[in-house]
Amino acid sequence: MATTQDDLTAEVIASFSKTQDPRLKEIMESLVKHLHAFAKEVHLTDEEWFAGIKFLTDSGDMCSEVRQEFILLSDTLGLSSLVDLINHSKGNDLATEPTILGPFHIQNSPFMKYGDSIIQRSLTEGEPATVRGRVLDIHGKAIAGAVVDVWQTDANGLYDIQESTEVSGNLRGRFTSEADGTYEFQTIRPVPYPIPNDGPVGKMLRSVNRHEWRAAHIHAIVEATGFRSVTTHIFDKESKYLDSDTVFGVKGSLIKTFEKQSDGHLLLNHDFVLVQA
Ligand code: BEZ
Ligand code: FE
Repeated sequence: MATTQDDLTAEVIASFSKTQDPRLKEIMESLVKHLHAFAKEVHLTDEEWFAGIKFLTDSGDMCSEVRQEFILLSDTLGLSSLVDLINHSKGNDLATEPTILGPFHIQNSPFMKYGDSIIQRSLTEGEPATVRGRVLDIHGKAIAGAVVDVWQTDANGLYDIQESTEVSGNLRGRFTSEADGTYEFQTIRPVPYPIPNDGPVGKMLRSVNRHEWRAAHIHAIVEATGFRSVTTHIFDKESKYLDSDTVFGVKGSLIKTFEKQSDGHLLLNHDFVLVQA
């Protein structure tokens, strides 16, 4: 029977001693150790404990088929980026740096041809831009047949699946690299956008005086047979919020420039570099 705070922590940790799965045992013991240390460090009051329970309950209530408030929480606390750093080190200094997936990727978006446009609407807003580059191995050799899956928001800062329950396919597509490793697509320049902020996570950000904005980016997953796939972003060098992205997803090597061509059209060059599996 526990009489002190430390005895209690030890007793709870010992309660996992019969766990069959060693990994589950390790995780539960460590979770309790750090959770108790946190409560002791901040001297958690009854009211604060209950506010935490209410926050988690409200977060659960906010979740649906199309909304995952707990992932948003993980993102805004930097946990998603930390797990990404732990598990997806780029493996080689020359390889493309990974960053978080985010909640708006769709499996099996349409395959398109070299140079096609991912804009599925008549262009009224947004600056037209071309994105092109090569898929390479770490020795600079072209990788043919790599799949470059890209997605981004429209000029209003919304992904297609935020605008409608149907997947319209607007501003997403998959491209296969050519024999010389090149890929190219037409799009609009991405814009900064706020993450969904009408739930408990938005409230949390406002209460600690943090903003809800992500720096402008295009998402990409690049896969090729025999290589480790990479989940990454291309960030616009001119974007606001590069130094305060609300989900801590920015990496310096992923910041690229949209160059204005002599005819005014924007062109961004970005090579993806993959490590052998
Ligand atoms: C995104 O980039 O799509 C995203 C990432 C984390 C939270 C919300 C959106
Ligand atoms: Fe995004």
